[in-house]
Amino acid sequence: MNQGKGRFVTVEGIDGAGKTTHLRTIEQAWREAGHEVVCTREPGGTPVAESLREMVLHQPMDPLTESLLVFAARRDHLGQVIEPALARGAWVLCDRFTDATFAYQGGGRGFDEAVLSQLEQWVQQGRQPDVTILFDLPPAVAAARLRDARAPDRFEAQDVAFFERVRQGYLRRQAADPGRFVVVQADRTPDEVGAALLAALRERGVA
Ligand code: TYD
Repeated sequence: MNQGKGRFVTVEGIDGAGKTTHLRTIEQAWREAGHEVVCTREPGGTPVAESLREMVLHQPMDPLTESLLVFAARRDHLGQVIEPALARGAWVLCDRFTDATFAYQGGGRGFDEAVLSQLEQWVQQGRQPDVTILFDLPPAVAAARLRDARAPDRFEAQDVAFFERVRQGYLRRQAADPGRFVVVQADRTPDEVGAALLAALRERGVA
């Protein structure tokens, strides 16, 4: 039985920032350190939330519906996976969380952030990540990286102006709670980004 305190770390960035590669870097470092590691993602992480993800990524809908579905998915995910894992002392690594809702639905879609804040309080009851890694880079660079990727979903198909609004949405969340965030400049080689990431994790006590 792990008596240690759990950790909740989320990873964010615009599509094409390189998040997927670096999630594996973090997971590997944590496993080598001997922690119980739970890797999960949003929207998703439970059967109900994965069904909602499928709808959000592929069916047309208005921004309020989109926001309600991502928060419904989040509620299920928190109750079924994240809170139980933290309670037993696991280290939880989540590929996107609520900052993505403020960035994509708030910044990208222009949806009312006051409504998102109410949903955040209602669904999370004060739960916030201990540390959030934000991979930041110019949207034009991210778009070039995505150009040869698989068929785009409803978000990946957006233009550079949309991703500029998403990026600014992330940076506003970071400015509002700077102590929670580590901003990693992602416009570098994967090795350079990985080294900066591991150094930041050690500095924050999440390595
Ligand atoms: P992403 O995390 O990039 O997964 P993959 O690596 O499989 O493409 O895809 C999830 C998409 O969902 C991403 O474009 C951002 C979007 N999203 C929102 O719009 N709101 C949210 O609250 C979350 C968590 C994600």
